[in-house]
Amino acid sequence: MRSSNQEFWEKRYLDKTTPWDFRGVPPILTTYLQRDHTPGSVLIPGCGLGYEVTAFHAARWQTLAFDFSPAAVEQAKEKLGPLAHLVRHADFFADELGGSYDIIYERTFLCALAPKLWPNYVERIRQLLRPGGVLAGLFFYGEEEDGPPNPLANLTMARNLFTGFELIVDEPIPATDSLPLFANRERWQEWRYLGK
Ligand SMILES: C[S@@+](CC[C@H](N)C(=O)[O-])C[C@H]1O[C@@H](n2cnc3c(N)ncnc32)[C@H](O)[C@@H]1O
Repeated sequence: MRSSNQEFWEKRYLDKTTPWDFRGVPPILTTYLQRDHTPGSVLIPGCGLGYEVTAFHAARWQTLAFDFSPAAVEQAKEKLGPLAHLVRHADFFADELGGSYDIIYERTFLCALAPKLWPNYVERIRQLLRPGGVLAGLFFYGEEEDGPPNPLANLTMARNLFTGFELIVDEPIPATDSLPLFANRERWQEWRYLGK
């Protein structure tokens, strides 16, 4: 299945029109990695320029990031230098990505997909996480708009979408730590996969 519009994203990376690009590691992820977690394996889907690769790697996580835009992957590899091998070109829905990850990290990937693909996204996340593994990251909430970005409407909707998951952490991101596009509409959430 060709999941989402590859040309749409490719053109934006080639034009360098990337208003979602945080140009660094979100402060909340730095805080998360400083907490007392035992490092495991992490998958970063739709990684864009992959800033978080460096942060996870430095915290001794076994890291794989990927994107289906060749331009994004090329720019990420160039930026990551010696860690370039941790970024791959792959389609979240169509390609082999291993499995049993401890964490899948989310930032502006779910909201980049058309809402009609969200059930497929959740199904794929279930395939890729180990039971007890966690989908962790920044989730975009708000009123429906003509995205991307496509926000989750509210927590009830999110709970219905993430069937088989337990929400174990949920906190707002301070507006000062968000890009204008997402300010006051991002939450750090950790959804634990309960297993099949
Ligand atoms: C809004 S951007 C976010 C990029 C990155 N997560 C960030 O925070 O900067 C969405 C990304 O998802 C990628 N993407 C969309 N559909 C994808 C798919 N099916 N497989 C892999 N990457 C995909 C796009 O190429 C784009 O880089």
